[in-house]
Amino acid sequence: MSNRPLLQSRAQCLRRCCPPAAPRSRLHTIAAAATVAGERRSKANIDWDTLGFGLKDVAGSMYVSEWTQDKGWDQGKLVPYGPITIMPSAQVLNYGQAIFEGMKAQESSKGRVVVFRPDQNAARFKAGAARMSMPSVPEEQFVEAVKATVAANLDYVPPIGKGSLYLRPLLLGTGPILGLGPAPSYTFTIFAAAVGAYFKGGQLTPIDLLVEERFHRAAPGGMGGTKAAGNYSPVLVTQLEAKKNGFADVVYLDAKTDTYLEEVSSCNIFVVKGRTIKTPPLQGTILPGVTRRSIVELARSRGYDVHEEPVTVHEAMEADEVFTTGTAVVVSSVGSMTYRGQRKQYTEPGQAGKVALEMYANLTDIQTERAEDKFGWVVPIN
Ligand code: COI
Repeated sequence: MSNRPLLQSRAQCLRRCCPPAAPRSRLHTIAAAATVAGERRSKANIDWDTLGFGLKDVAGSMYVSEWTQDKGWDQGKLVPYGPITIMPSAQVLNYGQAIFEGMKAQESSKGRVVVFRPDQNAARFKAGAARMSMPSVPEEQFVEAVKATVAANLDYVPPIGKGSLYLRPLLLGTGPILGLGPAPSYTFTIFAAAVGAYFKGGQLTPIDLLVEERFHRAAPGGMGGTKAAGNYSPVLVTQLEAKKNGFADVVYLDAKTDTYLEEVSSCNIFVVKGRTIKTPPLQGTILPGVTRRSIVELARSRGYDVHEEPVTVHEAMEADEVFTTGTAVVVSSVGSMTYRGQRKQYTEPGQAGKVALEMYANLTDIQTERAEDKFGWVVPIN
């Protein structure tokens, strides 16, 4: 007999007894969430087999912390997922002071829930805040906030292999201002959702990319290396058109010479020739992806000759294989790349490239603790 209704009502009772809207200490929150852990996935309304990358299964609790000039960051609290109220004069709505992160919590083969390299996101969030003239969130507070958000939403973590709990930390200039300047106050929030594969077609289906020549994503001295919200909407004009023409996404070239690969709208890019793997270097125009860095380290440890150096579009068109990396996309094999009307097919239709598959398997085995975490990347929540 199924015990689901009983478990569900206990989980609901727990939420009623400890209303998430009330500020709670971190330990209280984690303790409460740990109790729910035994009742994980009691949410009958999530279909774990059809998860996509969206907000259909947005998690019930989110983290919010506020910064003011006088007090700095408050201790933060968990509240039900819902609107944050800001004035039309909020800096972020007028001048765009906003950065974000993407992270994932997953069920591991040890039966616990883990997050991947949260220290790296904390460091990038700090660097991004400095670039955007925002007060940085102390790295320890960032990591604790991530842990608390996951712990409060354990019932949204998919079964191992079915997806992950995607976390979206945001730092926003929410205070009002009229003249151009930094916001007088800020909000740091983290919401989460149960997600599956990013690209249509599923995780291991190769994607078709188009090399974009009219627009650039970033320029030297700009903010391409910052995970600023403002870097992601200008790409839509090309991405949407490419999608209409059957491509999954576009690859950008460098703004100076239109010669070198930069990145895809949503992820970093790697090219493979024999045992050599290359990815464009971090020179301020490319997002320093946590997955990018992990793949560089992982591929080296597996004996590949890995170079972070400029990659010409011609080299990419001659490569044996191309793949992309990112938190949302994980590792995604590129089936074809089209440049100036010429299409280079890297893989058999529907089949992922060998190196992409190897990297995907190795990375996700570490992320789900199926393989030993020699690098110390995985951080348990419960
Ligand atoms: C991520 O990979 O987590 C990102 O933030 C990219 C975003 C376009 C989905």
